[in-house]
Amino acid sequence: MKPKHFLDLHLLDGDELRHILDLANGYKRGLNVAGGDKPLDGKCLAMIFEKPSTRTRVSFEVGMVQLGGHPLVLMGENSQLGRGETIADTARVLSRMVDGVMLRTDAHEKLTEMAEYCTIPVINALTDDSHPCQLMADIMTIEEHRGPIAGKVVTWVGDGNNMANSYIHAATRFGFELRLSCPDELMVKDSILDWAANEGGNISIVKDPKLAASGADVVVTDTWVSMGDSDYDRRMELLTPYQVNEGLMAQCANDALFLHCLPAHRGEEVTDAVLDGPNSVVWDEAENRLHAQKGIMVWSMM
Ligand code: CP
Repeated sequence: MKPKHFLDLHLLDGDELRHILDLANGYKRGLNVAGGDKPLDGKCLAMIFEKPSTRTRVSFEVGMVQLGGHPLVLMGENSQLGRGETIADTARVLSRMVDGVMLRTDAHEKLTEMAEYCTIPVINALTDDSHPCQLMADIMTIEEHRGPIAGKVVTWVGDGNNMANSYIHAATRFGFELRLSCPDELMVKDSILDWAANEGGNISIVKDPKLAASGADVVVTDTWVSMGDSDYDRRMELLTPYQVNEGLMAQCANDALFLHCLPAHRGEEVTDAVLDGPNSVVWDEAENRLHAQKGIMVWSMM
């Protein structure tokens, strides 16, 4: 049987994604939603990190333990993968010993190669192109505060990075309007916008961040210098007009939510007043990584 990889939101249909969210919401409510209280009893997840992490590592590791399974962390530099063993060979070996692989890496092609050679599920825990696990937590957070996300207006402000890409996938699969406000130099690739247009996604590019935020239900941003970016000064120059501050939030609907996948760089992409303010749901969003991860692992590994 083909493994149930969780590589990107656009590779799954809306019903499957909704099922994963239902599992996640059940786990948050303390319910045994699938296979009793230890559905992954005896199973092992290899977690490969080629980039730093706090939330992703903790949520997968704690989630795996809570589901009765065993998390096994492999840091890139301390494994043979970091010394040049091929991804294909690593995939073949891991497939003989563990029940799932979670990979955080840089080039997205490394993830797809891992999935090609693994006979067990592979989960994308962030690549340079996407961060689908984070989006499941974000959708869960928005819905628990404001009800169904379909038809809502979400404004992405700042860098057109991997999170922006995953928001495009999510908007198209979950049926919400997404406005992207990014500098031209840091805009998402045309190919992903073309994909969304072909799929009927409601995505628009609104250069002026205040206009993009006008009447929005949700504002989301991310760090301006992601892991692997080296052009700090240029990014600061380009992105300063895209800071999420009280002036920007004042353009939104009165009860608009603010989300940020964290870590935040206070005073850069977001001010303290917004991050710590009444509209911010970033701590719920961080907690929901745990519940969302459990939904993803049960969906893919059971
Ligand atoms: N949001 C997120 O992926 O956090 P970490 O980098 O800490 O895992």
